[in-house]
Amino acid sequence: MSNWTDVAAEADLFEGAGIPVAPAGHDIALYLQDGQVFATDNLCTHGHAKLCDGFLEGFEIECPFHQGRFDIRSGAATLAPCTEPIRSWPVKVEGGRVWLDLA
Ligand code: FES
Repeated sequence: MSNWTDVAAEADLFEGAGIPVAPAGHDIALYLQDGQVFATDNLCTHGHAKLCDGFLEGFEIECPFHQGRFDIRSGAATLAPCTEPIRSWPVKVEGGRVWLDLA
């Protein structure tokens, strides 16, 4: 079962960094890269840094605390000290809005 939820305007996104959204109590970061939108949990699994404060390079988000990295497409940890993945969320863009499946 899916639970598509409108979380942001597509026009609010920009390349190079994420933006935070908090639908239904979740803490999620949205990213724009190569014209595609991606969503992951916003909290780094290494500490309590917000990935929306980090730096997006290609499909990797760099944590602002210790410069670990995650792949925004899968949530996989790609650079130490990050080893635990973050959750990635299904995204669709419709009618100029960004929707996440929170199911
Ligand atoms: Fe993110 Fe340490 S808190 S790399």
